[in-house]
Amino acid sequence: MSILESGINLKKHKGKHFLTLLDYSSDEIKELLEFSLLLKKYQKEGVPHQFLAGKTLAMIFEKSSTRTRVSFEVGMTQLGGAALFLSSKDSQLGRGEPISDTAQVLSRYVDGIMIRTHGHEIIEELASFSTVPVINALTDDFHPCQAMADIMTIFEVKGTFQGVKAVYIGDGNNVAHSLLIACAKVGIDVAIATPKGYEPKQWIVNEIETICKETGAKFTLTNDPIEAVRNADVIYTDVWTSMGYEEETAKRLEDFSQFQVNKDLMTYAKGDYMFLHCLPAHRGEEVSAEVIDGKNSFIFDQAENRLHVQKAILVALMGN
Ligand code: CP
Ligand code: NVA
Repeated sequence: MSILESGINLKKHKGKHFLTLLDYSSDEIKELLEFSLLLKKYQKEGVPHQFLAGKTLAMIFEKSSTRTRVSFEVGMTQLGGAALFLSSKDSQLGRGEPISDTAQVLSRYVDGIMIRTHGHEIIEELASFSTVPVINALTDDFHPCQAMADIMTIFEVKGTFQGVKAVYIGDGNNVAHSLLIACAKVGIDVAIATPKGYEPKQWIVNEIETICKETGAKFTLTNDPIEAVRNADVIYTDVWTSMGYEEETAKRLEDFSQFQVNKDLMTYAKGDYMFLHCLPAHRGEEVSAEVIDGKNSFIFDQAENRLHVQKAILVALMGN
């Protein structure tokens, strides 16, 4: 399986940050995916790949996580390095130590910093003061590691990006932003259907439209889920209430009630559609149990691929 003709050259990424996929070209994203597929093969076949021996990743969490924490920590172990979990609750960050000081202190100890935080400006500030690579493990606006796993899973199942139509149904949130950018970058036609008032941010829509002009991908923004899903190959959804928005839960339950991904909606998709969800999921809300637990669901392959794409990103940014 090959995404790129030209082979893998990771050297150019050394020392870079990974804040959003907007900072990476189509070819660079494809190259990182190619390397992710190779690392997955190495891991399955027991081929040693300790490319980060002796290196340490600090992992700052200001929001909850299962997949991100475990996949980064296991990934660092498999690469021969170590990962350090720092909860904002138990570190000085939670007691008001400035992010700029935190960045400069951690840079003296570790070889990379991964952070899950609230406003995207927080990670931008961290990155501007850090002398080691900073990786975005979710902000209110983006979830680029997730999107890399998403498009890797699409490639594994569909065998190509060309002619694939992906649709995101629900909240125009961090996961949606990164998925749309990733699809546009690699040439997947992508649509999003949200309730009115929950569209992706306008400046990100503008970026996606610019990327599509370069890659030839088609982008559709609508408030009609049926229209969006017609003839789709990939159906994606995420929670209606993201972390940090909990006080809006009751209103969101009402506003999103017509946007559940269920068997009725899936009758408009292609027969061999694949269902994806970044997880955690709420069965009976954004997706019915029969769809998420059905034969078209690839959610656990998608979750597994977090490990492989993140290992590729870690090696590219932190490797020698
Ligand atoms: N998809 C994802 O990022 O999962 P966690 O919140 O469990 O890390
Ligand atoms: N949109 C969700 C994704 C969780 C992985 C959130 O931000 O809570």
